[in-house]
This record gives sequence, structure tokens and C-alpha cells, in this order.
Amino acid sequence: MSIEVVRTVADLRARLGDWKCDALTVGLVPTMGALHDGHLSLVRRSLAVTGRTCLTLFVNPRQFGAGEDLAQYPRDEAADVALAEAEGAHLVFAPRPEDMYPKGFATQVAVAGLGDILEGEHRPGFFTGVATVVAKLLVQALPDHAFFGDKDYQQLQVI
Ligand code: PAF
Repeated sequence: MSIEVVRTVADLRARLGDWKCDALTVGLVPTMGALHDGHLSLVRRSLAVTGRTCLTLFVNPRQFGAGEDLAQYPRDEAADVALAEAEGAHLVFAPRPEDMYPKGFATQVAVAGLGDILEGEHRPGFFTGVATVVAKLLVQALPDHAFFGDKDYQQLQVI
């Protein structure tokens, strides 16, 4: 059976709810797609320590600043889903931007201090965008564990 791709929070919660009813722990691997071995190593880690693994694919517009080209960001959902499936992930959550940020969406998570220095100084709003989307994904999925790369160490500390 091929891996399922869900796009709404209701469908995500339904699948994860079924797993939780079966006493399976859930691992979440948030990504913006363009998967490479770093992302896949997070899937492997999740598979090793949880019963079910959900990978998220969402190119988060809120972490792109002026002059950073959101439109140019690589997107190949079919290839990413195939890689997630081949690695053994159980579900892909690929929400639409309008569902993540409905009209009138006005809430942000800003990590004062840490989010404003170093990379944050050069990319105003970047870490607020990251913290906001990660907070949303965590609340939407309520995973037992979530897995993030440590390549961007400042991002990891903000999360
Ligand atoms: O590092 C990334 O891929 C992104 O910043 C993240 C954590 C998935 C949030 O969009």
C-alpha cells in the first residue's frame, strides 16, 4: 500500500488518533520538502524510537523575507513523497498555505533575543516564521517526539 498524503488538520488528527488508540507513539519530522539524506536520517531516527512516523511537507511562506524568493524554492512533492515512503515513513502531511494561514491569521510565535541575533539580525522575521510554523505543526499533530536537523544550530535552539 502506498503512503497516504493528508492535507487537512482534520485528516491528520484522524490518522494520528487511530495510531494513538492503538497505543502507537508518533514521531513528527517537519520539513519544507526538497528532501535529502539529512531529512531521511531524521525519518530513520523517528522510526527507531516511535511506532509511527509522519513527515510534513510545507514550504512556509512566513520564513521568507523580502528579497528571499519563495517562488523559486524547489518543490517536487511526488519525489518527496516517494523518498518518504521508501524510507518507511507512515504518513505525509502536506497542508495548503491557505489552511495553515487562513485569511485574518494574526498570531505569531516570536523568540525574543535568540531570534533576533546572528542569522536573525540579517533575516528579520525568519525565526518568527520558523517558530510560528513549528508551533502550529506541533499543536496540529501533538506528536510524542519531533525531529529536527542540527545543521542550523540557531534554528534548533529557537525551536
Ligand atoms: O529547517 C527547515 O526545514 C524549516 O525551517 C522547518 C523547521 C521545517 C520549518 O519550516
